[in-house]
Amino acid sequence: MTATPSFQAIILAAGLGTRMHSATIKVLHEILGKPMIGHVVEAALQAGAGRIIPILGHQRDRVQSYLDRRPYSHQIEIALQQEQLGTAHAVFCALDSLQDRYPYTAILSGDVPNMDAPRLKAFFEATVASGKAVGLVTAILDDPLTYGRVLREDNQVQAIVEHKDASPEQRALREINAGIYIVQTSFLREALTTIMNRPTNNAQNEYYLTDLIALAADGPGVFAWIIDQEECIQGVNNRLHLARATDFARRRINHAWMLQGVTFLDPSSTLVETDVVLSPDVILHPGVHLAGQTSVGTGTRIEANVQIRDSTIGPHAHIKAHSYLAAATVGPETSIGPFAHLRPGAQIGACCKVGNFVEIKNTRLHDGAKASHLSYLGDAEVGKDANVGAGTITCNYDGSKKSKTSIGAGAFIGSNSALVAPVSVGAHAYVGAGSVITDDVPDRALGIARGRQRNIDDWADPE
Ligand code: UD1
Ligand code: CA
Repeated sequence: MTATPSFQAIILAAGLGTRMHSATIKVLHEILGKPMIGHVVEAALQAGAGRIIPILGHQRDRVQSYLDRRPYSHQIEIALQQEQLGTAHAVFCALDSLQDRYPYTAILSGDVPNMDAPRLKAFFEATVASGKAVGLVTAILDDPLTYGRVLREDNQVQAIVEHKDASPEQRALREINAGIYIVQTSFLREALTTIMNRPTNNAQNEYYLTDLIALAADGPGVFAWIIDQEECIQGVNNRLHLARATDFARRRINHAWMLQGVTFLDPSSTLVETDVVLSPDVILHPGVHLAGQTSVGTGTRIEANVQIRDSTIGPHAHIKAHSYLAAATVGPETSIGPFAHLRPGAQIGACCKVGNFVEIKNTRLHDGAKASHLSYLGDAEVGKDANVGAGTITCNYDGSKKSKTSIGAGAFIGSNSALVAPVSVGAHAYVGAGSVITDDVPDRALGIARGRQRNIDDWADPE
């Protein structure tokens, strides 16, 4: 048995994408929190590509800096296309970067973000099995829009004709070119040299990659793979397409999580980004947005309009409506919100309670600690089972530096207290309501710092 030969992948991404009307190049526009080019690169790698050659032109520094920060950056080798003279010219600019030890080269577009890895892999394997020099993905569309049309004779693919060059009869054809190819590397070199060494002969005066198909049809053969789900090959040229591609990606992700045991009360309004990890019996209410590297443990309920980014939520937690969490961790059986704000470095333990209008930053709440109402806790440590009363503020910033507040296990902070850091309240200590605490409170002591009440009799006129 011979192992399936692996492939390298070229990604066309040099064009600006004028129809996006954006200061940002098209391939950096995001689908569910990830630039389109990121989706394409990851699908290629997951499908088995050994290395990736993005072809960059416009805003290449921005695209390159995005790719450089990815964990797969060592598998990327960038090629440059200074002037955009057409899709064949783009691939021509990558020829020097191709390695002949890969018998096959995939050619993908940075603006076709929803072609998934299993389909790409199936297409690659089918092309190899066909023995043909070129495989292309096609789709049969009710409305073939401005895609290139596939011309067949006796059912054999002969050529692609671009919409702009097509006759009315050709425009009536419904089989289109998805712009996704697998090509034998040696044939790719040969065919591109041919295309680039003859004048362009088309409406757009461009070197067309699609001319590869006619060259292969006259020689080593073309294999057409008709895709079963046309949304996978939708190209993004404007914001309408971007919204459609996002919609499809959202439906596909939510669908997969539902089959793995996650309840969505309203899948149409719930955004779960690609790198998020969920567990069985998670319940997501309408308008939830889970972003970045977020994971959610089993049995956890997340109520309406909660946004969670780059956070780890334990099992059987309850995140109540309208809360916002970023780079936080939440332990098992803990309840957060409604209207809570957990900022980076908020580490909330097990069985804690963080209630409404509580903001927490760079602060650890040990198991069982509570801050139920209207508090700001920053740069603090709150001991096990401590109770932080309503309106408590850690005054962590003196205008130039941040300082720490430490609250011991089992401590009780009375309402509306200001803890002026650096300061510590000992284990099982009390702070009287309305205190401004500037000195440490020893274990088990009561710290109280407020004006004493005085009643003045007969203040008001008699009735
Ligand atoms: C291309 C195909 C068309 C196919 C369609 C599928 C050609 C000639 N036509 O048309 O048959 O139906 O894709 O989506 O190939 N690019 C460069 N450098 C260039 C030109 C383009 O990098 O000089 C990049 C673009 O940034 C884009 C991709 O190549 O990512 C496709 O180019 P685009 O102009 O969008 O081609 P289509 O007109 O969509
Ligand atoms: Ca396109």
